[in-house]
Amino acid sequence: MAQPLQALRHDGGILWALDQTLLPWQERWLKLRDAQGVADALKRLSIRGAPLIGVASGYGVALELARDHGPDSLQRAHDTLIAARPTAVNLAYAVKRVAEAAAAHPPGPGRAGAALDEARAIEHQEIAASAAIAAHGADLLSELRVRRILTHCNAGALAAPGRGTALAPIAELHARGELELVLATETRPLLQGARLTAYELGRLGIEHAVIVDGAAAGLIARGEVDAVLVGCDRVAANGDVANKVGTYGHALAASAARIPFVVAGPCSTIDPETSSGAEIVIEHRDPWEVATVPSESSGARFRIAPDDTRCLNPAFDVTPAELITAFVTERGVACPVDHERIAGLLHAAALR
Ligand code: MRU
Repeated sequence: MAQPLQALRHDGGILWALDQTLLPWQERWLKLRDAQGVADALKRLSIRGAPLIGVASGYGVALELARDHGPDSLQRAHDTLIAARPTAVNLAYAVKRVAEAAAAHPPGPGRAGAALDEARAIEHQEIAASAAIAAHGADLLSELRVRRILTHCNAGALAAPGRGTALAPIAELHARGELELVLATETRPLLQGARLTAYELGRLGIEHAVIVDGAAAGLIARGEVDAVLVGCDRVAANGDVANKVGTYGHALAASAARIPFVVAGPCSTIDPETSSGAEIVIEHRDPWEVATVPSESSGARFRIAPDDTRCLNPAFDVTPAELITAFVTERGVACPVDHERIAGLLHAAALR
């Protein structure tokens, strides 16, 4: 059996990151030594997925403080990392948390040590969250008699420490012998589904098929899917969810076919400061990603659209809470998804 996947590791003052732009063709590890290196890896999606983005950002602050004990390094680490990717709230959550823990100490080795302890605490918290999401999510899917699941993008061990978010209940359902098939949407333009989810499901020995994004609604309408299960990048206070572009369309198709549309994610992905999905900042990436497809295992890309074609590249969309059947977290399941239940999850988190 394959070793559990671990996409990130802090060891010997270095953050080691499995370069996800090269998967599934090459397993190459990046050695990151400072905040700028981490920010660059986040921007090009070498490190990706909301909880993993958070964990890496926390370590990014710690690396910078370990490298430079001067009075300016904390602000520099914060500013370098905070703008790397705007939609996944885990980034701001982790940078703020590690920066606050560090700021309680004067500049120097003590500050750097406090930052590293806090970054490690965030990683451990996310590993525990993933295990609880696996159990809660599998219980829910089992209750709903779900055996064929469609998932979008990648929300597995490459996207979150531990077993991931949406792929964690899937792996657990598989372990319980209750899973028949996973349909993984390819997830244009960067193909996180075809490259990363298929890679993870293959390693886990889970029966799966990759489909083009445009095939999802038709297969759902024909009764070939029992539920849609996705991760999330930011959950607003009213339960609206930002996730990889295309998620909203799958939610509409699930609603029309009257099958469950389930979101899984840790409480660190809830943003109480954002009252609804309309306020979520959507990352717009380089149009070149849309105009091209991968051409080689080096990650090089081949142009498919004519040279002068205008392309738009919103990386996320927002699914309104009323289309979401349930939100599975480490603290339990919100169902239905609304302001009151989201606040309840946060209140429970604050008690710890
Ligand atoms: O642009 P990406 O690959 O970082 O987008 C990732 C997603 O949209 C995931 O579904 C989300 O972060 C949840 S990961 C557990």
